[in-house]
Amino acid sequence: MSHAVLHVTGARPNFPKAAPVVAALRARQVEQVLVHTGQHYDDKMSEVFFRDLRLPRPDINLGVGSGTQAGQTAAIMTALETVFLERRPAMVVVYGDVNSTVAAALVAAKLQIPIAHVEAGLRSFDWTMPEEVNRVVTDRLSDVVLATSPDAIAHLAHEGVPAERIHLVGNPMIDTLLAARDRFTPDVVAALGLPDEPYAVATLHRPGNVDDPADVAALVAAVHAVADQVRVVLPLHPRGRGRLEDAGLLDHAGVSVTDPLGYLDFMGLVDGAQLVVTDSGGVQEETTVLGVPCLTLRPNTERPVTITHGTNRLVTREALPQAVADALAAGRPAAWPVPPLWDGHAGERIADVLVAELRARG
Ligand code: UD1
Ligand code: UDP
Repeated sequence: MSHAVLHVTGARPNFPKAAPVVAALRARQVEQVLVHTGQHYDDKMSEVFFRDLRLPRPDINLGVGSGTQAGQTAAIMTALETVFLERRPAMVVVYGDVNSTVAAALVAAKLQIPIAHVEAGLRSFDWTMPEEVNRVVTDRLSDVVLATSPDAIAHLAHEGVPAERIHLVGNPMIDTLLAARDRFTPDVVAALGLPDEPYAVATLHRPGNVDDPADVAALVAAVHAVADQVRVVLPLHPRGRGRLEDAGLLDHAGVSVTDPLGYLDFMGLVDGAQLVVTDSGGVQEETTVLGVPCLTLRPNTERPVTITHGTNRLVTREALPQAVADALAAGRPAAWPVPPLWDGHAGERIADVLVAELRARG
């Protein structure tokens, strides 16, 4: 067995979570291997984050690409098994709730390699979401679970995870935001060629919103009702883009669609927005810290702390136009609570836990 910590990343939300952990372990001179599964592969879904977040180049890119839920997960597992057998890492670190995360946990568990899960314990209790399956399975297999919020600790305890495995460490994605804040792209609206006027940002990519053409038609109508009130800028995820455009998304002068944006452009855009409409997990957290009102187009959230301690609200498509009117009338809040330990130091806390764990395991 080597002494290396091996990180598994692959999809867009993994990169801002991994960056502070990799940096903090580097500062502690821990040997590391960075694996990219290739789950996301477009420049704007992957490469741009390595530049923007100053992440080191992956040591290994498995290049698995897209597939069905089972096909993609299985391809990642098969490729990772070879890597883990060759590298024999002392620990595997996985992030969030994507297919790359659960695939790595399954392979590591069967090779008896200790697993640390960053962003453990979040629960939507919605088993129609592939992410909920990934969260529960990954936590069950993990030896060290690192939680962003107290509700996550409660879920893990309730599921029988021994207390000594659970650590409340804060939110590494917020480390990334706070560290990059003075590099957010200024004037991104002008750079995108958009008029200098108030705007809302929207991101939509959940299967529950964008996979079924009937839902997509209703979603486009809701976005148009928002655009009747304020310009809507939509950096569109590739999933569903075709269906949204086929349903007439662009048939409203107040809707501006862009390709997915790099991190610094995207955060610059969100930071300057009147409000955000989203179904993203990470965006609920980022708006909470930036104090941008966030309307989450989902029936549930695995991140309730962004409602109790932040700017987030769950809305239906039907309620969205009125919720937008209310948010525009209220404006951005002057002060708002931020969840405990979302302070820019989660990566350091995670690294300390991992180093102690490695020492304890010899
Ligand atoms: C995945 C995650 C989701 C996360 C999202 C973040 C799972 C189960 N889902 O969903 O939790 O919120 O990433 O963005 O892991 N595609 C491209 N280019 C790319 C990547 C994807 O065109 O670089 C297209 C392909 O048509 C692909 C589709 O997007 O089939 C979906 O990609 P996939 O990785 O399967 O799931 P996401 O919807 O991105
Ligand atoms: N993001 C970005 N550009 C975009 C959309 C998102 O840089 O056009 C960033 C943002 O920081 C967000 C993260 O990517 O928190 C992950 O977002 P995504 O919605 O893809 O995944 P989720 O958090 O829903 O799993």
